[in-house]
Amino acid sequence: MRSKPGIEIKSPEQILSMREAGLVVARTLEVLRAAVRPGVSTADLDELAEREIRGAGATPSFKGYHGYPASICTSVNQVIVHGIPRPDTVLGEGDIISIDCGAIVDGWHGDAALTVGVGEIAPELGRLLDVCETALWRGLAQAQPGHRLTDVSHAVEASVRAAGSYGIIEEYVGHGIGTAMHMEPPVPNYGRPGRGPRLRDGMAIAVEPMIVLGRAETKVLEDGWTVVSADASHAAHYEHTVAITPDGPWVLTALDGGAAGFAAIGEPSVAGTVPQDALSEERLRG
Ligand code: MF3
Ligand code: CO
Repeated sequence: MRSKPGIEIKSPEQILSMREAGLVVARTLEVLRAAVRPGVSTADLDELAEREIRGAGATPSFKGYHGYPASICTSVNQVIVHGIPRPDTVLGEGDIISIDCGAIVDGWHGDAALTVGVGEIAPELGRLLDVCETALWRGLAQAQPGHRLTDVSHAVEASVRAAGSYGIIEEYVGHGIGTAMHMEPPVPNYGRPGRGPRLRDGMAIAVEPMIVLGRAETKVLEDGWTVVSADASHAAHYEHTVAITPDGPWVLTALDGGAAGFAAIGEPSVAGTVPQDALSEERLRG
């Protein structure tokens, strides 16, 4: 059976362009992670991000997207996603901040997010971050040819559920990505396995679990963007863009292609089949 119409299939050359965009996002997020400390404003982080992205010859994909005013989303504490950077939002010791970043290179998109603690954070917040990040990697590990889309969704959900009673956000989901940031198919963070389109070589998706310490109910603030937990409980959000390749998942927004992330969840066999840059370039030449 052919893949469902509407899911963009990329050539190996096009995946390499997406890798370039992914690396810009990865490097930008590393710079931002290192800049997070008490006293820094989210507008400071946005300025750093825009300089980093444009300095790499790329374009920030968020800026102007449906009127969004900044190059990154900065979501602090009970903000789940789409927090707008502001000069008067100043980070304090013990806060957690999700930083979401997207870049375009030669028309191809990369999109990733991570959540960082500011200084020392409470142990339960540290666990919240770990649970969300682990769930992301469990989902990414399923991004392989022949698997079904909801194998990814189910792996994310099962990972979170096994870790405790966290709320999994359902109103916001991951997405296909390529010549646009948001493409078919939607990638939920929950569901039964074995459903949805079959994953195949040349597809790329952004997997992005969002979880909260409390209930999974959300609301949007009056600015029309900021998504918060209805019960004001703390939220975590991690995201990577991954390409489905014959050799396994290639995490385009991870500097190492995903090797360390898969090793950390005890999936070295997945990492072992990941085409690193040299390998996939070799495939291109061959
Ligand atoms: N990067 C977000 C996502 O993962 C979307 C950002 S919305 C924007 O889907 F408006 F800020 F661009
Ligand atoms: Co995304």
